[in-house]
Amino acid sequence: MRTQVGIIGGGPSGLLLSQLLHRRGIDTVVLEKHSRDYVLGRIRAGVLEHGFANLMREAGCGDRMDAEGEIHDGVYIAHQGRMDRVDLARHTGGNSVLVYGQTEVTRDLYQARADMDGVVIHNARDVALFDLKSAAPYLTYAKDGATHRVDCDYIVGADGFHGASRKAIPSDVLREYEKVYPFGWLGVLSETKPVSPELIYARHERGFALCSMRSQLLSRYYIQVPITDTAAQWSDDAFWAELKSRLPQDVAETLQTGPSIEKSIAPLRSFVAEPMRYGQLFLAGDAAHIVPPTGAKGLNSAASDIHYLYHGLVDHYLNDDDAGLDAYSEKALARVWKAQRFSWWMTNLLHRFPDSEDVDQQLQRTDLDYLFSSDAALASMAENYVGLPY
Ligand code: FAD
Ligand code: DHB
Repeated sequence: MRTQVGIIGGGPSGLLLSQLLHRRGIDTVVLEKHSRDYVLGRIRAGVLEHGFANLMREAGCGDRMDAEGEIHDGVYIAHQGRMDRVDLARHTGGNSVLVYGQTEVTRDLYQARADMDGVVIHNARDVALFDLKSAAPYLTYAKDGATHRVDCDYIVGADGFHGASRKAIPSDVLREYEKVYPFGWLGVLSETKPVSPELIYARHERGFALCSMRSQLLSRYYIQVPITDTAAQWSDDAFWAELKSRLPQDVAETLQTGPSIEKSIAPLRSFVAEPMRYGQLFLAGDAAHIVPPTGAKGLNSAASDIHYLYHGLVDHYLNDDDAGLDAYSEKALARVWKAQRFSWWMTNLLHRFPDSEDVDQQLQRTDLDYLFSSDAALASMAENYVGLPY
């Protein structure tokens, strides 16, 4: 098989790029290791920046998102028993975020790929990359007992943190920066009304908590837990009790509880691999970088990579101009690092670190007091939360 752009990974990054390119007449093949149901079964991000939403619209996938997604122009931070609001719209000249789950984004992208007869090959195992430094790179994968080959002009590694593409870059070329946090987030999805119309990020002596949602009927809550905990160890009752203990009393009293329909623990990690290009291979999304989830920048950082890569590939194929592709790694990384900084700042501000001393906790409280006493600090928080420009 031959294609112009071979894409490894059928998560949101790979599907979005494939859909955008196909609409501009550029041929792609997506190789996804798992089944569609498996990919859709993963509950992940919930908050989209406008840049992401605009890409979905440009991909022809914005209708359901615009009808069912919720515009949020503020978020709360609960600390020291009170709730303070960050007015995103006021501090950004009217900007906001969209609450629409990654599962729905991915479902819409799969539907759009199917509607255009886009080639998405599921259960493609043992994907391997060859001749990346040549003008004729190719991929191989195993399916149904046979090995298949895909010849490409370019290969995009959008196969997440554990994928094969980053590993195909020689170690003397790749530089990796990594920080693993000593705790995780235990997340619960429940068919209950969200406790607040806007998200609540809570700093508490017992640890961080987050009240989020997917819709007015579906809530998503998280609590910080030791990285050694397992989801099975946490009963629903224990989860709700711990969550309530970390929220201001009046909020806790109105929290609706119910059976969890999903419960899992996500580790927290900061990770960046540089460069994001090696020969004809481009890395995008979690394949190249991971943020701790505080601040909801994971999926949104993937989207800015796709924006740069999409425009670079369109300029190459339609305008005979390689400047965008040549600048891809540098441009993508500049924005990635800013998202890393913001996620690291929010993580440090709101979590209880196992080895923290009184001074660290007092500095966290002071950081929050400063935030809510300074329009400049609020404007900085707000412009990062809604997403820096591409
Ligand atoms: P992925 O979504 O990881 O997609 C990569 C795809 O590649 C997958 O479908 C995978 O099956 C496939 N693949 C992997 N290896 C191979 C291979 N060798 N060959 C072929 N295909 C392969 N972000 C937030 O903003 N908020 C959150 O609450 C949040 N929660 C998260 C919870 C968890 C457990 C994780 C892991 C991430 C979370 N994120 C969150 C981050 C966000 O979900 C990611 O940034 C986003 O999924 C990145 O999309 P992607 O397409 O780049 O990677
Ligand atoms: C969600 C996850 C986040 O990491 C975040 O900062 C906000 C919302 C969520 O899953 O809803």
